[in-house]
Amino acid sequence: MRGRIARCGILSACVLAAALGTAVAGGRRRAPTVHPPTAQCATEKKILAVLDDLYRSQRRGMMNVPPDDGRFLRAIVEATDAKHVVEIGTSNGYSGIWICLGLLTTGGKLTTHDIDEGRAALARQNFKRAGVEHLVTLVMGDAHKTVAKLEGPIDIVFLDADKAGYLDYLNKLLPKVRPGGLILAHNTTSLSDSMRDYLKAITTRPDLETIFLTTTSAGMSLTVKKRGIPPAK
Ligand SMILES: C[S@@+](CC[C@H](N)C(=O)[O-])C[C@H]1O[C@@H](n2cnc3c(N)ncnc32)[C@H](O)[C@@H]1O
Repeated sequence: MRGRIARCGILSACVLAAALGTAVAGGRRRAPTVHPPTAQCATEKKILAVLDDLYRSQRRGMMNVPPDDGRFLRAIVEATDAKHVVEIGTSNGYSGIWICLGLLTTGGKLTTHDIDEGRAALARQNFKRAGVEHLVTLVMGDAHKTVAKLEGPIDIVFLDADKAGYLDYLNKLLPKVRPGGLILAHNTTSLSDSMRDYLKAITTRPDLETIFLTTTSAGMSLTVKKRGIPPAK
């Protein structure tokens, strides 16, 4: 049952991604309508206000995802009913809070990793300010080493740390991702040169299916760990 919901979820999220990106109407390309997210309740309103404030006041030096990529992360977490999301690259917690907005609806949790104590200290404050600290485990240290301790199954991995390390993260985390789970990687357009080996792996391995989202100029890949089609009877 959960698998069916997750499959539908991935489809809806892809449709959503297309809707957020450039639309094609009657053969003519037109810009999407830019609109801020609309809060459904007081909790969502508060978290969106914190995100807005963080993006305005803290993003210098924090290398945060653009708000539209944050919205995508939130949507895909909610649409796939993700219970365990793993993020590599916490920074000040901006993308993590977007992920938590989705997790608040799924009852899931976030394990996020960073190597920089200063940014992680800010993240702890920001998770608290957004009221999502109970959903988050922040793991300090070099994620190439600390991910070894992670337990699966993982529903979604979000890579947003050292770009040259993406392939190593993929190799270490893929066995812990559930069949049908997702690996998202940020900056696949803007920093593609630093991750050529990763891009080659996600586009050529037969056990993976990848599409590229160009909603923002940073770009993000969405890779499904294929379930495998059962043999015909
Ligand atoms: C692009 S920022 C993350 C931005 C964050 N995802 C957001 O949108 O708010 C990259 C982060 O990865 C961290 N990082 C870089 N190399 C790392 C490593 N080997 N292990 C853990 N974290 C690392 C950096 O300290 C930095 O905070």
